[in-house]
Amino acid sequence: MSESRRTRFTIPPARWPTREEAARSLLFSPVRFGALTARTRTWVPAMVPWRATEEGFVTPEVLQWYGRFADGKPGVLVVEATGIRDIPSGPLLRIGDDRFLPGLTKLVETVRERSGGDTRLLIQIIDFLQIRRRPQRERYLREFLVIGEHHRAGLARITGSERAARGSDAEVREALVALPHDALLALLAPREIEDLEFGHRQRVNDLDVPAIRELPRVLPGLFARASQRARTAGFDGVELHFAHAYTMASFLSRTNVRNDGYGGSPEARVRLPLEVMAAARAAVGADYTVGLRYLSDECIAGGSSLDDALFYAEQFARAGTDFLSVSRGGKFDDAKPPRVGEAAYPYTGPSGLECMPTVYVPGGPLGRNLPAVRAIRQRVRGAGCATPVVACGGINSFELAERALHEGDCDLVGAARQSLADPDWWRKMELGRGDEIRRCLYTNYCEGLDQKHVEVTCQLWDREFDAPDAGAAHGAAIRRTKDGKRRLEPPGWTAG
Ligand SMILES: Cc1cc2nc3c(=O)[nH]c(=O)nc-3n(C[C@H](O)[C@H](O)[C@H](O)COP(=O)(O)O)c2cc1C
Ligand code: SF4
Repeated sequence: MSESRRTRFTIPPARWPTREEAARSLLFSPVRFGALTARTRTWVPAMVPWRATEEGFVTPEVLQWYGRFADGKPGVLVVEATGIRDIPSGPLLRIGDDRFLPGLTKLVETVRERSGGDTRLLIQIIDFLQIRRRPQRERYLREFLVIGEHHRAGLARITGSERAARGSDAEVREALVALPHDALLALLAPREIEDLEFGHRQRVNDLDVPAIRELPRVLPGLFARASQRARTAGFDGVELHFAHAYTMASFLSRTNVRNDGYGGSPEARVRLPLEVMAAARAAVGADYTVGLRYLSDECIAGGSSLDDALFYAEQFARAGTDFLSVSRGGKFDDAKPPRVGEAAYPYTGPSGLECMPTVYVPGGPLGRNLPAVRAIRQRVRGAGCATPVVACGGINSFELAERALHEGDCDLVGAARQSLADPDWWRKMELGRGDEIRRCLYTNYCEGLDQKHVEVTCQLWDREFDAPDAGAAHGAAIRRTKDGKRRLEPPGWTAG
């Protein structure tokens, strides 16, 4: 259905607090989590901006990106998903070796300076499995497909001739290339169809692959060493990435059917995440903040639901996580097939829409995850744990944030896209200048850029295309994206 024919949710106007009201609010009151005290309960969740070098190093643009969020003085700012392995992974930040430390240290210093010490800085650390781009049909059949008996039998059935079944592998491949597409799909195994139409993606269930079988032996050490580097670089804490489409979330998923003690039952699925947590904690000590981000619901058929999330919450809290940041959806399982030459993106299907809900989602995007977050918090409190819970998903106003805190949905309020649209929005609210806030449209222009792996920006920044950047002397050149078409940074704002 075209966007214009879908029902579009109208973002209601917001009533912003006066300075005095903000000062009295829960939102702008301190909270303790782990070894830290955040000055306010405001939180900017991890967002990948595609500004690192191809080798995963911090660039001046990365410093500028986080410096700009720090200008808004959120209580907590989380640095984007940062890879824990020492392997090439494109322009995503990495923390898998000590050579990344100087850049990361500079990042910490930048945020400390730009926030005047008001923002606590965490880094999200991630492991992800291999994913290949969608191959061309001919290339897949001639180079990647492993020819098996089912292909030979299928060809014999379709052509009515045993000759095809007896040919060399090369002949079988050419016979497959010549088949009409529907006939080809009818004889490929489900995983082969997926490899052809989406590109090969490793799964935690692939126990026949040694690297996958060994994940439980390898990951605790990788997460532990990355956590230690985070501490050395000066970050205030780490957020273990157990959410969305990546390795650790796949262990938690109901789709994890590993039979090695790390899959199947909920207890077995949470085992590796708990071992990773314990290893990270042992590496950094009790006086350092280690929390995690995970899903209230995978929002896919056959995936983990809120029931699983409640069980995990209790396990994580009892094991001593310093916070639970709760996201939703964002899976490969229901993603749309990518174009040939591109990789699948886990935010294109219904679960992706739950993760970054737009104004086209039935019911609208606002506070969409709050009922589930509330249930998680209640379960944690019921278990006698005071673990702070961070909510996120379509939170865009003082009233929504304050109500969530008052009603016990959460202890801290995360806002990703609203903070991207206007990184100063927290500060504007706190100073009673809410009417100057640039409000997110929730139409996901930014997410489209993330999908293309190009520098993430907000469409609203370009409405003030020639306004100076924050901190730039009047008349200084405004920084633009590589194609020169978009502002690289939000327009400037000063509290005056
Ligand atoms: C451009 C972009 C990049 C993101 N990158 C990450 C990431 O690195 N790690 C993560 O856990 N979530 C990531 N997210 C998801 C957000 O943290 C957040 O959960 C989601 O946008 C919903 O919150 P919101 O409605 O406040 O935007 C990203 C979102 C956007 C828009
Ligand atoms: S690009 Fe759109 S969805 Fe993204 S932050 Fe800006 S207004 Fe919000």
